[in-house]
Amino acid sequence: MNIVLIGFMGSGKTSVGRLLARKLGSNFVDLDERIEEASGVKIAEIFASGGEGHFRELESRETAGVSVEDGLVISTGGGVVLNQDNIINLKKNGRIVFLRTRPETVLKRIVHDRSRPLLQKDDKEAAVRRLMDERMSLYEEAGDVIIDTDELNKYEVVDLIINMIKEI
Ligand code: S3P
Repeated sequence: MNIVLIGFMGSGKTSVGRLLARKLGSNFVDLDERIEEASGVKIAEIFASGGEGHFRELESRETAGVSVEDGLVISTGGGVVLNQDNIINLKKNGRIVFLRTRPETVLKRIVHDRSRPLLQKDDKEAAVRRLMDERMSLYEEAGDVIIDTDELNKYEVVDLIINMIKEI
């Protein structure tokens, strides 16, 4: 079985995923990194040259590929929930953990970020709030487990995940 982390940009999926994998002795896969390795260019360049649609195609391809592997901790990109097929694939062999965050928490973390094309806007706060509004119900529906992470550090989040996945 795989453990799959979903959530908005800046929700800590990658740092929590790395730590969780280390604690469980599992291999860790970051889907954004897989996409960059497969295409040979950075996410920002994929968006710049082919647009978001092209990025979503690559994302779905890599998501399908990783979903047939086993025993992994997988951290996804924040938009993975936009395509229901991705969630169907990830659930075949995995349990999904939604790391829920408030917009304020995300904004603090991404204020100086240059790597996420969808947030390179003058009004970052509006961009975060709009995307989060659009996606929140998708994250909540996809998650087998939901963890509110705003007040927790990554070690606490990992301990919670380890306890909660025993029960599902
Ligand atoms: C995206 C999130 C990013 C990356 C891409 C698009 C999104 O991943 O996949 O920039 O649509 O939310 P992180 O959630 O790891 O930042």
